Amino acid sequence: MSRRLGICPGTFDPITNGHVGIIHRALSLFDDVIVAVTINLSKAPLFSAQERVEMIRESFAGVPRLTVETLDGLLAQYAHDKQATAIVRGLRAPSDFEYELKMAQMNRHLNEGLDTVFLAAEADGSYVSSSLVREVARLGGDVSGLVPPHVHARLQDRFST
Ligand code: COA
Repeated sequence: MSRRLGICPGTFDPITNGHVGIIHRALSLFDDVIVAVTINLSKAPLFSAQERVEMIRESFAGVPRLTVETLDGLLAQYAHDKQATAIVRGLRAPSDFEYELKMAQMNRHLNEGLDTVFLAAEADGSYVSSSLVREVARLGGDVSGLVPPHVHARLQDRFST
């Protein structure tokens, strides 16, 4: 039987503990997982694509069955090329669902048969987003409990001048 591949796409600017949890859970559902870091032209990222990839790799150092790549193009095409079983997305709140449903339907329109699996994010992180983490860190607030320690260090470095 072929191996079941899940793709966790996102901007990850930067990866948060919430993302880490979703990716770990994807690893328990799929044989292999690719974290696809999008080069999203509508967002001006704080961290370069390479930095975002490095931070994710550091978060999963030594974890087998996980690959981190950049994605510059259509997710539906990428999933087709990789012969993915499904896309995995976390839902933090009901408000996430409207946007996520449209993306899932569009991806299924573009790649017939492509499923999106939604995982309920942990309730205690439902208020966290990468942009809030960036803003709080930039203004000197404490985000140490919201991101992995090496991401916290990078945020401190970035905003120390
Ligand atoms: N914990 C913390 N934050 C979470 C989270 C979790 N479990 N789940 C989502 N988020 C946050 C992210 O931090 C991000 O916050 P921000 O906007 O404040 O930075 C926000 O939710 C959504 O970000 P992300 O998951 O990165 O999604 P996105 O909206 O930036 O991008 C893609 C979604 C990557 C799936 C979509 O843009 C895509 O597919 N791109 C490829 C191009 C394409 O195919 N486009 C057509 C799509 S139909």
